[in-house]
Amino acid sequence: MSFWQSLTRPIIGMAPMDGVTDATFRHTVAMHGKPDVSFTEFTHVHDVCRGPEFLLDSLIYHEAERPIVAQLYGKEPDLFYQAAHAVCELGFDGLDINMGCPSRSVASSGSGAGLIRTPEVAQSIMQAARQGIADWAAGQTLEKAGLKPGRVAAIWQMNEQRQDARPLVRHTIPLSVKTRLGYDVVVIDRWIEHLLIEQPAVISLHGRTLQQMYRGEADWNAIARAAEIVRGSGTLLFGNGDVHSFHDVVRRVRDTGVDGVLVGRAALGAPWFFRQKEEARRILQEHRTEKGPEPWAPPLDVRFEMLLDHARRFEAACGQGQFRRMRKHLGWYCKGFPHAASLRANMFRVSSVADLEQVLANFRMHCASLTEVSDQMLLEPLASPEPSPAL
Ligand SMILES: Cc1cc2nc3c(=O)[nH]c(=O)nc-3n(C[C@H](O)[C@H](O)[C@H](O)COP(=O)(O)O)c2cc1C
Repeated sequence: MSFWQSLTRPIIGMAPMDGVTDATFRHTVAMHGKPDVSFTEFTHVHDVCRGPEFLLDSLIYHEAERPIVAQLYGKEPDLFYQAAHAVCELGFDGLDINMGCPSRSVASSGSGAGLIRTPEVAQSIMQAARQGIADWAAGQTLEKAGLKPGRVAAIWQMNEQRQDARPLVRHTIPLSVKTRLGYDVVVIDRWIEHLLIEQPAVISLHGRTLQQMYRGEADWNAIARAAEIVRGSGTLLFGNGDVHSFHDVVRRVRDTGVDGVLVGRAALGAPWFFRQKEEARRILQEHRTEKGPEPWAPPLDVRFEMLLDHARRFEAACGQGQFRRMRKHLGWYCKGFPHAASLRANMFRVSSVADLEQVLANFRMHCASLTEVSDQMLLEPLASPEPSPAL
């Protein structure tokens, strides 16, 4: 039985977001409101097998994140075969293939959502990845699969550096796919039927076509149709797109019958987001009529502690030299409270945890001088940040 089957439904997971859901963010989320499952940012199969070593950083994870699924993209079946060995050797719980990225640099080369136009290539990739997993489980070494000794050593080193890494046991891991409704038009019946030939454990469906990018609204009627097609096949269907709150989670599961939901942008700057998953599940399982748990955010002081926790983790893992990459996250934490905009502006200037502590101390002093309540409950639903134009 795969780990997917052992999760209680509906499964509420965090969607992969390149440049955002890195190891430090996912670890922070795991500590403050764990989703049922997380995915790495997508990594190109070529980078896994042959690219510069630093590109393996996107496959770093912490044990606290389990179950954690590695997401790969590309278009060459042979590289998927090799990369599947690396994913297994790194101890991931599952392997997900990206068939949904709309970015021009990815899709126009035939990877990501480009695969929707070449279903036979998509199928070959799934077969190759599955064969890679099976051969690794049967004892095949990474060198035998075609990886160079230096790359194998780098992978072993990643395992050694992972705190509390559990002993590696050779077993097969499930294969899943994350995709969209179509390339330029919705082709959901044909596309889902095609994917089902390879019996992936899960199909996660973002309710937009490639051409829509992130425009308009996710089409949950099309997701409901996909759930209907998949029912009884043994594959799980997850819906994804524009889920902003647990009201949305409850409504979408109720209305569409999906087995799970992936939440992306709503979790940015809100590592506590998934805390309400059990309450939402209870409402659904007990067929209660309420809309879902009320949107909630922690008091401001607690929010700042989480932000600091995230920033400390980032600085420890990536060093001060990279701290600029943390600024966007800091900005996302600053919304929905008095003077959030001015705090956010200051966040874009910090270069270290020490700077950040100073900015927060100044903010607290400023609020105290204005006699504002700093630990008010924040009840308004959080707005989603805009996706980067490239994705
Ligand atoms: C900045 C950004 C990066 C993304 N990177 C990935 C990725 O690496 N792999 C993937 O499958 N989807 C990626 N996506 C798509 C999301 O997983 C998700 O499908 C999309 O954001 C819709 O869900 P949401 O409305 O809950 O955010 C990305 C989205 C954003 C905004």
